[in-house]
Amino acid sequence: MACDSAFDRPPLHGRLQDAWARPLFSPRVVTAEAVPALVDAQLHPDELAAVERAVPKRRAEFGTARLCARRALSSLGFEPAALLPHEGREPRWPPGAVGSITHTAGYCGVAVARSELVQSVGLDVEQDRQLDPALVESVCTPSEWRALAVRGRPHQDAIVYFSAKEAFYKCQFPLTRVFLGFHDVELTVDFESGTFRARVLLPLPRRPSGLEAARGRFLRRHALVLCGFELGAAGVLSPRTGP
Ligand SMILES: CC(C)(COP(=O)(O)OP(=O)(O)OC[C@H]1O[C@@H](n2cnc3c(N)ncnc32)[C@H](O)[C@@H]1OP(=O)(O)O)[C@@H](O)C(=O)NCCC(=O)NCCS
Repeated sequence: MACDSAFDRPPLHGRLQDAWARPLFSPRVVTAEAVPALVDAQLHPDELAAVERAVPKRRAEFGTARLCARRALSSLGFEPAALLPHEGREPRWPPGAVGSITHTAGYCGVAVARSELVQSVGLDVEQDRQLDPALVESVCTPSEWRALAVRGRPHQDAIVYFSAKEAFYKCQFPLTRVFLGFHDVELTVDFESGTFRARVLLPLPRRPSGLEAARGRFLRRHALVLCGFELGAAGVLSPRTGP
């Protein structure tokens, strides 16, 4: 659906100076970020309708993500259009585009790419916090827990596994339409290079090419953990894997 001039390329309130999510992806992916703010007046009527009963915090996250997404998509040459959710809650990107959205208090980020170059992307942000032992257990498999314990700060570092699994989930879901629980995926995390690999422990109806060879990236800054997972299109070289 095309946008009208009322919200065509609006000024983005609370734009971040620094491109925090940029280093998580190859140059094929465009990122846009902002501090969430109520931007109802700049949204498409169908987008507003999608969150009309939501609390202001949710409307701010949803709306700011739509403005970030339009800015990122326009830099790839896409016309401004309403960005509504599918039934599975993942965004309905315009034909020819793939992308991912994340938000938390004080931060909203979007990553998009052309589908001829990238099969899918996943972006996730979390507050960099210590997880309760019960939550660590529900997020990490026994072998992940052993790897965390070796580093000596398991409850502080488990948040990286949490966020990396969510980024991986958002990347794989549009391709497989399969719900994966936290124990259905096992990560190998390299804390020195800020990279991770993910292995799906379930049989998938369709295994996207390169899924388990792809390497995600993470970074911790400004009390946030940011994770990105990018799956290049078949025949397109995979993203940089070095630090
Ligand atoms: C979908 C999910 C990953 C979102 O993560 P979150 O930390 O709650 O929230 P975030 O702010 O980071 O992301 C929200 C965005 O995710 C996107 N999203 C929602 N469902 C999605 C899906 N099925 N696939 C891809 N993206 C999805 C939406 O764009 C949403 O933003 P919007 O509603 O403003 O459009 C999470 O709610 C969930 O369902 N997790 C369970 C599955 C999982 O993580 N498994 C891990 C093992 S792989």
